[in-house]
Amino acid sequence: MNLTEEEQAILAGDSGPAAQKAMQILEMLGRIYGAKQMIPINSVQIAGVSYANLGEAGLDWLSEMADGGGKTQVLTTLNPAGMDVENYRALGISEDFAENQRRVLKAFETMGVVTTCSCTPYLFGNLPRFGEHIAWAESSAVCYANAVLGARTNREGGPSALAAALTGRTPAYGYHLDENRHPTLHVQVEADIQDNPDFGALGKVIGDRIQSDSSGRVPYITGIPNASLENLKSFCASIATYGGVALFHIPGITPEVDRYDPPAEGFRVSQRDLADARANLTSASAGEVDFVSLGCPHLSLREIQRVAALLEGKRVTKEFWITTSRPVKGIADRMGYTAIIEAAGAKFATDTCCVVAPIEGRFYALATDSAKACYYAHAKNHFETRLLDYEAVIQEALE
Ligand code: F3S
Repeated sequence: MNLTEEEQAILAGDSGPAAQKAMQILEMLGRIYGAKQMIPINSVQIAGVSYANLGEAGLDWLSEMADGGGKTQVLTTLNPAGMDVENYRALGISEDFAENQRRVLKAFETMGVVTTCSCTPYLFGNLPRFGEHIAWAESSAVCYANAVLGARTNREGGPSALAAALTGRTPAYGYHLDENRHPTLHVQVEADIQDNPDFGALGKVIGDRIQSDSSGRVPYITGIPNASLENLKSFCASIATYGGVALFHIPGITPEVDRYDPPAEGFRVSQRDLADARANLTSASAGEVDFVSLGCPHLSLREIQRVAALLEGKRVTKEFWITTSRPVKGIADRMGYTAIIEAAGAKFATDTCCVVAPIEGRFYALATDSAKACYYAHAKNHFETRLLDYEAVIQEALE
């Protein structure tokens, strides 16, 4: 790799041991993927924040980087932690876990990472512009940044995202380069796609197909006339989970699509495919649900507004988590939505989510509108699942 003089100096240790370690990681990654140089980046999103996933080994690594003088060089935000930093007791999180999670957040804070603890940083201040190079982890946010915003990032892991944050650089390969952003297959959607569960199921259908026939991972998708921000964040989460997709193009919706023609190869998605995917994500019957959650990815203000309208004057009968970022919850507080939702007995699980919180064994079956949450609830926490429309999820909590 051709490193600039400044990059060589960082590699030699002139900026301290943490920056040196970070540059070593990036240089090694660059060599593995055939990058010719580093490129400057303007923002970072770090994943791998929950102590449940990091453990002591992960915390040791973070402490080493913090003690080694690591300081972020660009705006750097953080994925959900394993608990609501302020309200963890109400969610049943132990004091031991809370103490360890606080040590993780302290290490990030020492390095200048903004401890936002959300997978939707683009909803409150970390919003890259079209064409901007960034280094993000969190697969749903990566997909949203590449496809919906037209920014450029690979799917970073925790260490490579932190390394990019501490140096302000990333190796120039993958989705940073024009030649890797071309669509590789044409997906013709012939199903009626309405709300988030439909978009999630569509992400599963396309993702499963891409995983099974390795026909490339940049779909050009036709047959979707409209999609809201919330639909797109749901779709990004699902297609990234089931297919490892980090970029797609949709005519009339995503910003780079006019540069390309639809590829000749591809497949169709029928109404039946969609119904099968939805059925596949529903393993529990209505009577078995004992846990309800909305907010994977974290809820937008509009979604919280909708929850408040549907819960006003009612009372939930099951554990019901509303997961969102703290900045969005702050606006919900001011608007009175939080008071309505909490009066109904639902709980805000801010800074965290039903996947990264340590809740394995506490519940039997989860009801949600998120295909991604269904996947991880089953794979990580061994819950049964019910994928439902937004209003049906709330109804499930009330019954
Ligand atoms: Fe976000 Fe947790 Fe879902 S990190 S995308 S709410 S699994």
